[in-house]
Amino acid sequence: MSTQVKITRKTTADIKKMKASGEKITMLTAYDYGMASLLDESGIDMLLVGDSLGNVILGYDSTLPVTMEDMLHHTKAVSRAVKNAMIIADMPFLSYQISAETALNNAGRFLKEADAQAVKLEGGREFSEIVHKMTYAGIPVMAHLGLTPQSVHQLGGYKVQGKKEDAAERIMQDAKILEEAGAFAVVLECVPEKLAAEITAALSIPTIGIGAGVNCDGQVLVVNDMLGMNDRMTPKFVKKYATLNIEIKKAVKNYIGEVKNGAFPDSEHSFK
Ligand code: KIV
Repeated sequence: MSTQVKITRKTTADIKKMKASGEKITMLTAYDYGMASLLDESGIDMLLVGDSLGNVILGYDSTLPVTMEDMLHHTKAVSRAVKNAMIIADMPFLSYQISAETALNNAGRFLKEADAQAVKLEGGREFSEIVHKMTYAGIPVMAHLGLTPQSVHQLGGYKVQGKKEDAAERIMQDAKILEEAGAFAVVLECVPEKLAAEITAALSIPTIGIGAGVNCDGQVLVVNDMLGMNDRMTPKFVKKYATLNIEIKKAVKNYIGEVKNGAFPDSEHSFK
């Protein structure tokens, strides 16, 4: 007896084809069922359950405290919602850096338990063997170079990377090594647009930029930032496509006022 698994979501093959045909790839982060449904229904190509979860959902100052259990919990919620987009789960700090065995085991959990289709991990050539092992085991890997927020203390802050020639060359070589190891795509975060364009031209796998200019094969933003869910300062590369924090506060103030003065609930919202 044969069983057939029907894959309706976009796959690594679809994403690679988009680079080949010159169609730009769109990616946003998602952390919960409701938002993931809206993004999926809007036609986004890929959803990243990013460890930016730590900052935007869990209220930490960095991504470092985020755990495997946090990531699995939120990836499961996103997976329940999504029919069309490809889902990538971010490997949190120390879930893949300690040993190849724990890395493989943790990456596999995202596919086995949370219905993700791929994982993302930060770092360069030092992780090429792990990327190779995961790919060999059937776990697609998205690499992440440039500003890698899990290394914030080593980088000395959230700064543009690859400005000097030797640093740029290292990022270029890392990208090639990770492609060779089997990565199906690479995120380039906060690198000069010229470097991102050169890496994009040098690789056959897609580059997904965030603060890396227009010449990447695709773009990613943190959904809470691009929807203007808060009024905090955002990095230069974030474009706010909405200012939902204003809309939400307006609606909530309206609700508070109407409950206080007895205008809500009116007869239309009550049972006879
Ligand atoms: O965690 C995240 O949201 C990310 C993206 C910003 C690429 O890694």
